[in-house]
Amino acid sequence: MMSLKEFMLKDHLNKARERAFALGQFNFSTLEQLQGIMLASKELSAPLICGTSSGEVDFLGVAEAASLVSIMREKMNVPVFLNLDHGRDLETIKKAIECGYDAVHFDGSHLPMEENIEITKKVVLEAHKKGVLVEGEVGKMKGESTLHDTPAEKPTLTSMEKIVKFTKETEVDSIALDVGSVHGIYADAPVIDFDRIEKAKNETGCFIVLHGGSGVEEKDMREGIKRGVVKVNVNTELRAVWRDALYREMTENKKEIVPYKILPAAREATREKVKKMIKLFSYEKGNI
Ligand code: 13P
Repeated sequence: MMSLKEFMLKDHLNKARERAFALGQFNFSTLEQLQGIMLASKELSAPLICGTSSGEVDFLGVAEAASLVSIMREKMNVPVFLNLDHGRDLETIKKAIECGYDAVHFDGSHLPMEENIEITKKVVLEAHKKGVLVEGEVGKMKGESTLHDTPAEKPTLTSMEKIVKFTKETEVDSIALDVGSVHGIYADAPVIDFDRIEKAKNETGCFIVLHGGSGVEEKDMREGIKRGVVKVNVNTELRAVWRDALYREMTENKKEIVPYKILPAAREATREKVKKMIKLFSYEKGNI
């Protein structure tokens, strides 16, 4: 039987596409968050992706994140992969590839289209030499991964013309696009453009990634996955449960100063949230 590790990220994404489920990308910047994510994967025998954004690797380190994931997935024998989320330059991307990331996301969506295409092509060249998957981004997603009291800024949905041109010229494996979701949780739930998801899937053949997975209504999440999303990025919801668990723990046990007695609360809250999201993304045992 093929071991979990031999079954590569691309195979899992292909399977997700065939069977209409999605892999979650769960972002982390601390050890107890990563432990929670790994334990959820182990408990449900579910493939998933860990993500580190620019801010997260500034805090934790690219090599450190890669080593932690590599050691833990080996030891726990879990189908967990690592993606550089919103990589901002070629240098950081090259470092992530060197350190053993399974996938890299180059976010050139703030650049003029031609410049975004040029750099993304360079990323694809570097990454594919090492069998690393590349996610490109076209159409700037709004928001920031935190809790907001206000309504979100209006999305500027990415045109099909741009999506097709970008994916054809860059040959990326996965594509992040603006389909109405936003990074962060706002006073109003996002309105998702399901037709755009379906068209992007059919016209590009790329793996469709939904950024801004937090705050999307459950019925919309299911519909998005049914229409073609195979990877959902989640950060804000994990940050919120991490913070709430720590706050509760420290309020209830004011005298406790031992990190390994305080932090399990955050690990458990992360584990529960990740398990809930995996189930929402319709992952069931037997899908791998
Ligand atoms: P949320 O913070 O809304 O979950 O979005 C995360 C994300 O898209 C990371 O790329």
